[in-house]
Amino acid sequence: MTAQDTTTQGSTAHDLVARRTTGHSLEGAFYTGQEFFGLDIEAVFAKHWLFVATDAELPEPGDYLTLDVGPYSILLVRHGGDDLRAFHNVCRHRGARLLDQERGSVGNLVCGYHKWTYGTDGALRHAPSQPPEFDPGCFGLKPVHVRSVGGLVFVCVAEEPPADFAEVAALIEPYLLPHRLREAKVAARVDLVEDGNWKLVMENNRECYHCDSHPELLRSFFPTYGCTEADVPPQLRSAHERYLRADAELRATYDRLGLPFALVEELDTRVSGFRIQRDALDLAGESFTPDGTAACRRLLGDLPTARLGHLSLHLQPNAWFHVLSDHAVTFSVLPVAPGKTALRTTWLVHPDAEEGVDYDLGTLMKVWRATNEQDARLVARAQQGVGSPAYEPGPYAPTEYQVEAFCNWYVTRLREHLWR
Ligand code: FES
Ligand SMILES: [Fe+2]
Repeated sequence: MTAQDTTTQGSTAHDLVARRTTGHSLEGAFYTGQEFFGLDIEAVFAKHWLFVATDAELPEPGDYLTLDVGPYSILLVRHGGDDLRAFHNVCRHRGARLLDQERGSVGNLVCGYHKWTYGTDGALRHAPSQPPEFDPGCFGLKPVHVRSVGGLVFVCVAEEPPADFAEVAALIEPYLLPHRLREAKVAARVDLVEDGNWKLVMENNRECYHCDSHPELLRSFFPTYGCTEADVPPQLRSAHERYLRADAELRATYDRLGLPFALVEELDTRVSGFRIQRDALDLAGESFTPDGTAACRRLLGDLPTARLGHLSLHLQPNAWFHVLSDHAVTFSVLPVAPGKTALRTTWLVHPDAEEGVDYDLGTLMKVWRATNEQDARLVARAQQGVGSPAYEPGPYAPTEYQVEAFCNWYVTRLREHLWR
């Protein structure tokens, strides 16, 4: 038996988790096997806070959306102005799927089977033909933890969600609030099902080693994006000087406007791993457009200048965000099958911004629509490779340190789950 054979033959999930080599990609079974898919749902998606929507998608009482997380179906509904509720989308009568549309607006939540009717607070309001002793108070919908952080909506199906998320929320909210995403408008939403494991989607997002594949995005990013000071190659020195000038100018702007900008990076040093930073963009420095100028004339939160670079936020396990002066783009990743992952991308603009007047939708979406499609091809290519018996984990480059952090975080979650 060769060294590679041991990675696929006769090894249990415990073996694979125990022998994970730091600094190297994960073994193939992590990405291809049903066993790891089930473990990932139990140890990661059923235990952590997941980014699933924006407040802007549910502006009015009764607005709802449903989503699948592994075997769970979750119903998110606005009960009142700031009162967002989440429930298991399972009727308390005989368990039927309660709402089957992906989104909509309701007065009450009515089960399509025998018409048990719940309020948007989850209370059972009406159950036809029950005996007098029937107590509706015992049959409210099962709640799911939900909270909004600066207009970004997170749910957690665990009975006890990770306690450190409150600290993370307190750290990141001051970065988000000036953009007033809570009041923003959804300009567009695109769902993409990628032919790869959810971890490959996340890993791919955590490095720009592959960014030559993104000509549209690279116009906005400085050529040295992802390099540390020590890594800047000689031919990129002048581009790096341009970055340093833009960075110094931006820091002065952030200070003047009172916008938090410091890098805070705790990707694998806490349960609710995250990374946040404001950073400069190249060219006009305003937005993800071919010349770097704002894609939307009406700025988010009535910010006084468009030249604010981008606020980038990464959250374990399933999200990343780019928040700019003129728009925000949110990315939510949910596993569908070992080799299939749903990526939802949502573009937000100022609530009064008018399509065709303040922004052209094609221009607004162009960079990330193209980038997502390019990334989906890379993820599919990676999935094809890791499924081969010949695949063996390879070493990360220094510029892939966030991929390593993601895998460290993930393997720690599995260790805690398997050896609890
Ligand atoms: S299963 Fe919902 S009303 Fe019967
Ligand atoms: Fe990419």
